Amino acid sequence: MSRIRNVKPEFYAHEELQDMEMEHPELHPMLVFSALWTQCEWSGVFHWSIRKLKLAILPFLNYDLEESLGYLERHGFIKKFGRDGKYYGFVYIFSKGPPKTINLIKDVPVETAGRFCKIRHRNKDSGLTENASVGAIRLEYQTRSNVWRFGTGTCVARDNDELEHPAVFPYKLARDQITTWTNEGDTVLDPFMGSGTTAVECHLSNRHCIGIELSEEYFDLELRILKRVCAQQQFDFRGGA
Ligand SMILES: C[S@@+](CC[C@H](N)C(=O)[O-])C[C@H]1O[C@@H](n2cnc3c(N)ncnc32)[C@H](O)[C@@H]1O
Repeated sequence: MSRIRNVKPEFYAHEELQDMEMEHPELHPMLVFSALWTQCEWSGVFHWSIRKLKLAILPFLNYDLEESLGYLERHGFIKKFGRDGKYYGFVYIFSKGPPKTINLIKDVPVETAGRFCKIRHRNKDSGLTENASVGAIRLEYQTRSNVWRFGTGTCVARDNDELEHPAVFPYKLARDQITTWTNEGDTVLDPFMGSGTTAVECHLSNRHCIGIELSEEYFDLELRILKRVCAQQQFDFRGGA
């Protein structure tokens, strides 16, 4: 299994990060922030261990990583917290307001599925209130965290022609993203089409797709794949090479 983490395009044009970079280039805030993603666990949390982090993040540059982390924290990009005597960091993600659609995928098996449990509420003062007369049966599956794992590489291709592109994404990755953030009939924009994975999954899940691809070679490949997948159905190709 490989992990795929995307740095959102907003990262490269984020005004505040750019200002911070210009203000304190010696702290490398942009590079440190993007590199922190590689140090996070599945939940977006990393160990606040300066020596270990320094070995992983720009180890050959002479800069004060603790100062860089503090700088990112003061500007709201990460949050430091302590638990059981250890310190951790949490990386926030970029978002332009709440998403229009969220269909969270619930496919994480629950160990205690089927058991009866009491309902408890966390109070504002952090205490717990237990309602002994109200309970619920634990469901079989719970919602995924915000890090998803997929098989990658040649084994995820549906056919040989897809292997003509060097960086084909797993179909399941595209499908899960599409079904989480859109409903049937919505339109998905993929500005880096590659072999057309997103377009294929949009078609199969009744979404529209607008795709952009720079390379004529890959554009032709996409068309071939899309035509093969959609051979039996009507498909709206409005491509122009
Ligand atoms: C990582 S691949 C995408 C792979 C795709 N998700 C798939 O499963 O096949 C990125 C693609 O973006 C294309 N690309 C790079 N720069 C581009 C640009 N400025 N405009 C449009 N396409 C671009 C590349 O030619 C490449 O095919």
